[in-house]
Amino acid sequence: MSISKKSIQQVLETAEIEDVVGEFVNLKKSGPRLKGLCPFHNEKTPSFTVTPNLNMYKCFGCGNGGDPVKFLREHEKFTFIEAIEWLANKYGITLEKTVYSDEQQQKYKEEESLYIVNSFAQDYFVKQLKETDEGRKIALQYFKERGFTEATIDKFGLGYTSDAKDNFLQTALNHGFKEDTLKKLGLVSRNYPMDFFRNRVMFPIKSVSGKVIAFAGRIMGNHKKSPKYVNSPETEIYIKSKIVYGIYEAKKAIRKQEECLLVEGYTDVISLHQNGIENVVASSGTSLTVEQLQLIKRNTPNLKIIYDGDSAGVNAALRGLDLALEQDLNVKIVMLPEGEDPDSFIKKVGATVFRSFMDENADDFIFFKLKLLEKDADDPVKKTAMIKDIISSIGKIPDPLKRNLYIKECAQKLQIDEGILIGETNKVVKAQVFNRQKEYNRQQREKDRKRMMDAKSAKSSDPSFPPEPPPFMEGEEMPPEGYEGGPAPDEFAPTPKTQDRPSYFKEKEIIRILVQHGDKKLLTEEMTVAEYVVAEIGETFEGFEQEDYRAMALFCQECVGQSKPVNYKTFSTHETDSFREIAQELVISKYEMSPNWLEKKDMPLRSQPVPEENFRKDTIREVKNLKLAWLKKIQRDLGKKLAHLPKNDLSDEMMKLLKTKTNIDKAVKDLTKELNQVIL
Ligand code: UTP
Ligand code: MN
Repeated sequence: MSISKKSIQQVLETAEIEDVVGEFVNLKKSGPRLKGLCPFHNEKTPSFTVTPNLNMYKCFGCGNGGDPVKFLREHEKFTFIEAIEWLANKYGITLEKTVYSDEQQQKYKEEESLYIVNSFAQDYFVKQLKETDEGRKIALQYFKERGFTEATIDKFGLGYTSDAKDNFLQTALNHGFKEDTLKKLGLVSRNYPMDFFRNRVMFPIKSVSGKVIAFAGRIMGNHKKSPKYVNSPETEIYIKSKIVYGIYEAKKAIRKQEECLLVEGYTDVISLHQNGIENVVASSGTSLTVEQLQLIKRNTPNLKIIYDGDSAGVNAALRGLDLALEQDLNVKIVMLPEGEDPDSFIKKVGATVFRSFMDENADDFIFFKLKLLEKDADDPVKKTAMIKDIISSIGKIPDPLKRNLYIKECAQKLQIDEGILIGETNKVVKAQVFNRQKEYNRQQREKDRKRMMDAKSAKSSDPSFPPEPPPFMEGEEMPPEGYEGGPAPDEFAPTPKTQDRPSYFKEKEIIRILVQHGDKKLLTEEMTVAEYVVAEIGETFEGFEQEDYRAMALFCQECVGQSKPVNYKTFSTHETDSFREIAQELVISKYEMSPNWLEKKDMPLRSQPVPEENFRKDTIREVKNLKLAWLKKIQRDLGKKLAHLPKNDLSDEMMKLLKTKTNIDKAVKDLTKELNQVIL
């Protein structure tokens, strides 16, 4: 089932940004806005703002921003539908369902069947553990020897499967499950009709919401021939790089204690839980991915990684951990005593000592790296390489204050001049900021270009439009920057005067003004911005080249006709997807990074909203710009018509055309003058 457009619109209209954000972030009133600490990046002074009258949130530190749905998608990693469902639940709205397309329905059914089979397998493994003699004698005994209590076994859903060839397969087939599905999930071998997991204790791997998505099986006894652990293969419901073991059982504790412990093994997670340390997940022996880090970050920015005392791969793993710095996680590292893993260590010393060991031995990631590298400090070549390595790590930290702290420490520890370290780090940081900015500009341009191309192709297939001279060369692809606060201009691209902008951008500006300021009073109490725009250039709306902008402009005209207000909400709650998307994009782009970010010392990505008063100037200018473009088009058409008539024709029609032409020429000249453009 999916949700009807009407219901979606109802939810979008009802959801209030301060309510929604307020469930996750502590907000304080600050003028017409609310402020709080940004949940998307780590900060000490609040730059995260919520603007109720726009129904938007925006962080001036990291740039994240949008409407209530966007917030839930970012913060909870919900899909659009999940966000709508969450909001509906919050506001007590009953959602009207419509039926999925066949294709969607098929996909949904398939996924659902994978969960159902896994859940069946899970029950089977638990029964094997608890209700068979063999299970009790071998596996339950094994767990008891490891010190796992009944409660722990239940909490993690541990199970067992015997060495029998196809006991599970037969049971599953008897229950009507398809062999294909069993194979797909890796419960049955691909090539033989045989159970895949045999003679193993079973650890279900759960999704964040607790559904069983895969299994890991640990062999009983010491079989040298087969690996200690085997795992289910990846499927639609199990993507290894996106999940960490234990997150479902740990997430509450992680949030509460504002820290996530990361260990290497399944049994480490379970053992720590049993000892009252519940904020722990396992990477399952592989190096961390960005998605796993983001999953952790959704719950806390503080990550403490516990390495086994004999961990061979620490050095290599550390390199991968620069990723964690980029995600702005605060990473600490604890190295356990030689030969211990968390499971063995907590068993030996108990929870109290374990905890204090953690506290006393947690090294900051950078300093830990420094320590490891220090071993080579006598060799000048190695020392240089090591400094570079550390600098590149420090450069990855988005918070400048944090960076400076590290630089100070490192300068001291490495006995290097602080100024040199700062200079080198800044190079790395600038390169990164530059890349990020370039990527942002590229995305923005790509979007504009795509819409503009759409507009062009729509136009060329419509013979009633006279072709316009190409606004700029192919490959130049630079959006003009006629207004303050837009994304930083690419320094190498020319910035066209606002009057020279292709129609696409003029249309975009008009829509931006309608979305942002439509219901504000323009000059007197009598007229709103939207009314002014419609009155002045309403007749041009039908001729807008870009389809979405045309539809939005016409919709706005309709609203004005019915005396309904035109504002951000008008579009952001509209049932048409592109209306909502464009409205959000336009409002957000207003806040993007300031153009001279590169010159500003040490701190990119800070920006100021455009002062509100500018909207009057903007409105009048952009309306004139569009009018001028429109008049020029008529002027060109007239010119063509006149050229086709005989030179000394003195017919009424000719006189009429000439008179119109004189009027239009004058209007063009006046308008151009007003817009400060000299005509040649
Ligand atoms: P360990 O060998 O430390 O396993 O590997 P463990 O969890 O402590 O198991 P016990 O205490 O010997 O019973 C750490 C992790 O590496 C992965 C598993 O996720 C394991 O928990 N691993 C290890 C495998 O995937 N396959 C293997 O063959 C071994
Ligand atoms: Mn172990």
